[in-house]
Amino acid sequence: LAKVEVDLSTIPEGRNVTIKWRGKPVFIRHRTAEEIEEANTVSIAELRDPQNDADRVQKPEWLVMLGVCTHLGCVPIGEAGDFGGWYCPCHGSHYDISGRIRKGPAPLNLEIPPYSFEEGNKVIIG
Ligand code: FES
Repeated sequence: LAKVEVDLSTIPEGRNVTIKWRGKPVFIRHRTAEEIEEANTVSIAELRDPQNDADRVQKPEWLVMLGVCTHLGCVPIGEAGDFGGWYCPCHGSHYDISGRIRKGPAPLNLEIPPYSFEEGNKVIIG
Protein backbone atom coordinates (compact mmCIF):
# COMPACT_ATOMS: atom_id res chain seq x y z
CA LEU A 1 0.00 0.00 0.00
CA ALA A 2 1.25 3.48 -0.84
CA LYS A 3 -0.44 4.99 2.21
CA VAL A 4 -1.38 3.45 5.54
CA GLU A 5 -3.79 4.94 8.06
CA VAL A 6 -3.25 4.37 11.77
CA ASP A 7 -5.73 5.14 14.55
CA LEU A 8 -3.64 6.79 17.25
CA SER A 9 -6.33 6.42 19.90
CA THR A 10 -5.39 2.73 20.14
CA ILE A 11 -1.80 3.52 21.23
CA PRO A 12 -1.49 4.34 24.95
CA GLU A 13 1.14 6.76 26.21
CA GLY A 14 4.48 5.06 26.72
CA ARG A 15 3.85 2.38 24.11
CA ASN A 16 5.22 1.50 20.69
CA VAL A 17 3.44 -0.03 17.74
CA THR A 18 4.96 -1.28 14.52
CA ILE A 19 3.07 -1.10 11.27
CA LYS A 20 4.08 -2.09 7.77
CA TRP A 21 4.43 0.52 5.06
CA ARG A 22 5.78 -0.33 1.61
CA GLY A 23 7.19 -3.53 3.01
CA LYS A 24 9.12 -1.76 5.74
CA PRO A 25 8.39 -1.53 9.45
CA VAL A 26 7.36 1.89 10.73
CA PHE A 27 7.63 2.53 14.47
CA ILE A 28 5.13 4.80 16.15
CA ARG A 29 5.77 5.73 19.75
CA HIS A 30 3.39 7.65 21.97
CA ARG A 31 6.01 9.45 24.02
CA THR A 32 5.58 10.50 27.62
CA ALA A 33 6.30 14.01 28.88
CA GLU A 34 9.53 12.72 30.45
CA GLU A 35 10.65 11.18 27.18
CA ILE A 36 9.98 14.40 25.28
CA GLU A 37 11.98 16.31 27.85
CA GLU A 38 14.83 13.82 27.63
CA ALA A 39 14.84 14.06 23.84
CA ASN A 40 15.21 17.82 24.14
CA THR A 41 17.94 17.93 26.75
CA VAL A 42 20.53 16.17 24.58
CA SER A 43 23.42 18.35 23.48
CA ILE A 44 23.16 18.36 19.69
CA ALA A 45 26.92 18.88 19.32
CA GLU A 46 27.50 15.43 20.83
CA LEU A 47 25.42 13.66 18.22
CA ARG A 48 26.88 11.72 15.31
CA ASP A 49 24.00 12.82 13.09
CA PRO A 50 23.10 16.16 14.71
CA GLN A 51 19.37 16.76 14.67
CA ASN A 52 17.04 18.50 17.08
CA ASP A 53 14.16 16.42 18.33
CA ALA A 54 11.82 19.16 17.09
CA ASP A 55 13.06 18.58 13.55
CA ARG A 56 12.17 14.88 13.78
CA VAL A 57 8.56 15.14 14.95
CA GLN A 58 5.43 17.04 13.95
CA LYS A 59 3.87 16.63 17.40
CA PRO A 60 6.24 15.96 20.30
CA GLU A 61 4.13 13.14 21.73
CA TRP A 62 4.23 11.16 18.47
CA LEU A 63 7.50 9.80 17.14
CA VAL A 64 7.06 8.20 13.70
CA MET A 65 10.09 6.65 12.00
CA LEU A 66 11.25 3.76 9.84
CA GLY A 67 12.20 0.69 11.83
CA VAL A 68 15.24 0.06 9.67
CA CYS A 69 18.70 0.33 11.20
CA THR A 70 20.83 2.74 9.18
CA HIS A 71 23.82 0.40 9.46
CA LEU A 72 22.77 -2.65 7.45
CA GLY A 73 19.01 -2.64 7.67
CA CYS A 74 18.07 -4.86 10.60
CA VAL A 75 14.96 -4.05 12.63
CA PRO A 76 15.87 -2.46 15.99
CA ILE A 77 14.17 -3.57 19.20
CA GLY A 78 12.08 -1.04 21.14
CA GLU A 79 12.50 -0.07 24.78
CA ALA A 80 16.05 -1.31 24.67
CA GLY A 81 19.63 -0.11 24.52
CA ASP A 82 21.60 2.38 26.58
CA PHE A 83 19.68 5.50 25.61
CA GLY A 84 16.08 4.64 26.43
CA GLY A 85 15.05 4.11 22.83
CA TRP A 86 15.87 1.32 20.40
CA TYR A 87 18.65 -1.22 20.09
CA CYS A 88 19.75 -3.02 16.97
CA PRO A 89 20.97 -6.48 17.94
CA CYS A 90 22.70 -7.19 14.64
CA HIS A 91 25.85 -5.21 15.43
CA GLY A 92 24.92 -3.19 18.51
CA SER A 93 23.59 0.21 17.50
CA HIS A 94 21.82 2.22 20.20
CA TYR A 95 19.19 4.83 19.31
CA ASP A 96 17.67 7.34 21.70
CA ILE A 97 14.04 8.28 22.38
CA SER A 98 14.12 10.48 19.29
CA GLY A 99 15.53 7.63 17.15
CA ARG A 100 18.92 9.30 16.90
CA ILE A 101 22.04 7.15 16.70
CA ARG A 102 24.01 7.38 19.93
CA LYS A 103 26.39 4.41 19.96
CA GLY A 104 27.41 1.57 17.67
CA PRO A 105 28.16 1.35 13.95
CA ALA A 106 25.04 2.94 12.42
CA PRO A 107 25.94 6.24 10.71
CA LEU A 108 22.58 7.99 10.75
CA ASN A 109 19.43 8.53 12.78
CA LEU A 110 16.42 6.35 12.03
CA GLU A 111 14.71 7.83 8.98
CA ILE A 112 11.45 9.76 9.21
CA PRO A 113 8.90 8.73 6.56
CA PRO A 114 6.40 11.19 5.05
CA TYR A 115 3.27 11.33 7.22
CA SER A 116 0.44 13.64 8.17
CA PHE A 117 -2.03 13.93 11.00
CA GLU A 118 -5.68 13.72 10.01
CA GLU A 119 -9.10 14.31 11.56
CA GLY A 120 -10.17 11.85 14.23
CA ASN A 121 -6.77 11.24 15.82
CA LYS A 122 -5.38 9.46 12.79
CA VAL A 123 -2.03 9.52 11.09
CA ILE A 124 -1.47 8.66 7.45
CA ILE A 125 1.95 7.25 6.60
CA GLY A 126 3.03 7.87 3.02
FE1 FES B 1 21.89 -2.50 12.94
FE2 FES B 1 24.22 -3.37 12.00
S1 FES B 1 22.26 -3.53 11.08
S2 FES B 1 23.80 -2.42 13.89
